[in-house]
Amino acid sequence: MADPEEVLARLVGDALGAAFGPDYARADPLIRPSQFADFQANVALSLGKRLHRAPRDVAAELAGHLTAAEVLGNVEVSGPGFVNLTLRDDWIAAQATGQLGDPRLGLPVADPPQTIVVDYSAPNVAREMHVGHLRTTVVGDSVVRVLELLGHAVIRANHLGDWGTQFGILLEHLIDVGEDAAYAQLAAGEINAFYQAANAKFKTDPSFAERSRRRVVALQAGDAETLRLWNTLVGDTRQYYNAVYARLGVTLTDADLAPESFYNPMLADVCDELQAAGVAVISDGALCAFPPGFTSRDGAPLPLILRKSDGGYGYDTTDMAAIRYRIRDLHASRLIYVVGSEQAQHFEMVFAVARQAGWLTEGISAEHAAIGLVSGADRKRFRSRTGGSIKLIDLIDEAVGRAEEVIKDRYDDPELRGRIAEAVGIGALKYADLSVARDSAYVLDFDRMLALTGNTGPYLQYATARIRSIFHRADQDPDQAAGPIVVTEDAERALALRLLGFSRAVRGAAASAEPHGLAAFLFDVASTFTTFYEQCPVLQAPEPSIRQSRLALSALTLRVLVAGLGLLGIPVPDRM
Ligand code: ARG
Repeated sequence: MADPEEVLARLVGDALGAAFGPDYARADPLIRPSQFADFQANVALSLGKRLHRAPRDVAAELAGHLTAAEVLGNVEVSGPGFVNLTLRDDWIAAQATGQLGDPRLGLPVADPPQTIVVDYSAPNVAREMHVGHLRTTVVGDSVVRVLELLGHAVIRANHLGDWGTQFGILLEHLIDVGEDAAYAQLAAGEINAFYQAANAKFKTDPSFAERSRRRVVALQAGDAETLRLWNTLVGDTRQYYNAVYARLGVTLTDADLAPESFYNPMLADVCDELQAAGVAVISDGALCAFPPGFTSRDGAPLPLILRKSDGGYGYDTTDMAAIRYRIRDLHASRLIYVVGSEQAQHFEMVFAVARQAGWLTEGISAEHAAIGLVSGADRKRFRSRTGGSIKLIDLIDEAVGRAEEVIKDRYDDPELRGRIAEAVGIGALKYADLSVARDSAYVLDFDRMLALTGNTGPYLQYATARIRSIFHRADQDPDQAAGPIVVTEDAERALALRLLGFSRAVRGAAASAEPHGLAAFLFDVASTFTTFYEQCPVLQAPEPSIRQSRLALSALTLRVLVAGLGLLGIPVPDRM
């Protein structure tokens, strides 16, 4: 099967060549969805200027050369110079039949595949994951699934914050509290309390502050006992994150950890290389890079601090080491950083310095896939009742608990009810992150995300369950459904045409590292299916061939929805 927009682009390109000469065959035909037809080509508007001719004339001449009898049903010039394109019903039906028979549902395999590093999740050891971390985790995991399905070699990089001066404070506090008590507190998820107590002591107790500083030095010097404590602390919180990942159905494992400490052995060399290349200079005793074009509010050049005057390394250094490692050692040609939008400038500077250093070259793309802020109903940063950032696991529990409220009347069996509530609650929570532009700020609203209508996780899950129930009643297996799909009614046509957009939606998500267009596509498919189901009887279809076609169309819808929800990482319960 073929992507309609691509087929049309090719046809219009050919017609452009035939009408205006081969130079014009390569002009972007600007195929867009149309209100008055299936699609429209807008190229005549810009071409009119180039040819010094009225766009409507250009459109008419172009339309005259569009001869693809088997694809196009109707071609019409409209408005100031749009060419409206209507596909033939039997072409759409044939493509949909082909899609049903294709295990990849029309998805291409990337050729050549790229090596792509996706940096996401990246919580901090001994600090609670917050809703912002939830969002990068959910979005990043979807981006990874999309890229992998397209055949790319994806390297997940969980840039866990496990290093830095705060570990002196945390470890010294750990010793004060006593290991057993500290681990019990962390295992109970009281991570913020632990972190806050440690920091409060650092601020008020000078001798503690001094001990903390010595502890950092010991950690960096590789002191065995300090390393042992650090390792347990890291291991402990890692367990907590892993539990959250498992509960959320996130694909990250320990094998994907590339924590800050991993880059430790590379930091001195990275500094040396940047200094030797003249990209980094000593400024006030610190080694800094000043990428051109970055200035503070008062116009002073802004540094990336590579080595502090006391010899210590920080977040900036680690990111420089990470980008060099990803390019030089992992041979990645695309780097995606799914990280909060507040770090935009940091990444611009990291990319700029990596370019100056000659690491980030022409054929390699580095992208900050920015994540926006999630706020509470008061539009402030999302916080718990006590004012701290909310525990992620509590948030998940709340979503699942509320989901159970929503569905409780449908199931008597508590085991089944619990299982479906888990899928619905987690699906709703994740879908809320995926159905909006990833860099948009949004208000976390449980009632809205759990609604059974509208662009929500539960609505899409419900759409799949409803299709399964049709097959259940027909006593058929949707996986065995076979074409041919025929198109007679408008609602059938609309559904079949939508389904053909799957590949475009998935490729779009891959290109932009942005899943929300895919979510919008699935919502559109589910809504179009609802209309189809209202207008076209499936099991009571007037003729056996129509019944078979409608079952096939329903099965194709189910497969596209299940595949799409899988790419978003949304669990799909088989009934609801
Ligand atoms: N741990 C950081 C945070 O919580 C995010 C790290 C993002 N990745 C990176 N390569 N800097 O803000």
